[in-house]
Amino acid sequence: MLDLFADTKPWQEPLASGAVILRRFAFDCAPSLLQAIAAVARQSPFRQMVTPGGYTMSVAMTNCGRLGWTTDQHGYLYSPCDPLTGAHWPPLPDAFADLCQQAATAAGYADFQPDACLINRYTPGAKLSLHQDKDEPDLRAPIVSVSLGLPAIFQFGGLRRNDPLKRLLLEHGDIVVWGGNSRLFYHGIQPLKTGYHPLTGDCRYNLTFRQAGKKE
Ligand code: SIN
Ligand code: FE2
Repeated sequence: MLDLFADTKPWQEPLASGAVILRRFAFDCAPSLLQAIAAVARQSPFRQMVTPGGYTMSVAMTNCGRLGWTTDQHGYLYSPCDPLTGAHWPPLPDAFADLCQQAATAAGYADFQPDACLINRYTPGAKLSLHQDKDEPDLRAPIVSVSLGLPAIFQFGGLRRNDPLKRLLLEHGDIVVWGGNSRLFYHGIQPLKTGYHPLTGDCRYNLTFRQAGKKE
């Protein structure tokens, strides 16, 4: 199929106060990001985490960086070690760190120093229910979220769970950055539709960069 957007320059769409979508910002570096995801997953494999309530998440996850987001019987936590392997999470690949720095700067958060990157893998039907990212101690740092592969519908609401939701299609190479007034806004991903993407097959990947520890 002819990709009419293959040569399109990235563009920005404001989303909310403190939040912006950087459309196609990661399009050109996507192949290197996907290679790096595969390398991370060879060390710390994708797994479906179980919530403290005993529910197995439909999204498969792994992490890289100094800290990784995980679950145990008591709750959600950031840990330097992968509970599956007992070893440290793999380091943040250079391709991840470079892209995140450029995206954060473009969104007005040039100081952002991520120390954690959660990697989500969605297969058809997988979803992420409406939630806030609130396990990070320093909420001055934004979230930088990179979409790769199959498109998905992202819901972005407000500070209260029942605030009205915007529904936006996130496509391959799109980046959403939210911080400032929208740092704690509820968001989620609707069940992934079946499809085929030339770089990821039947999957969507998402990278979310966070500052989960103290600033260096
Ligand atoms: C997340 O909220 O952690 C991920 C959002 C996404 O997959 O786009
Ligand atoms: Fe989130």
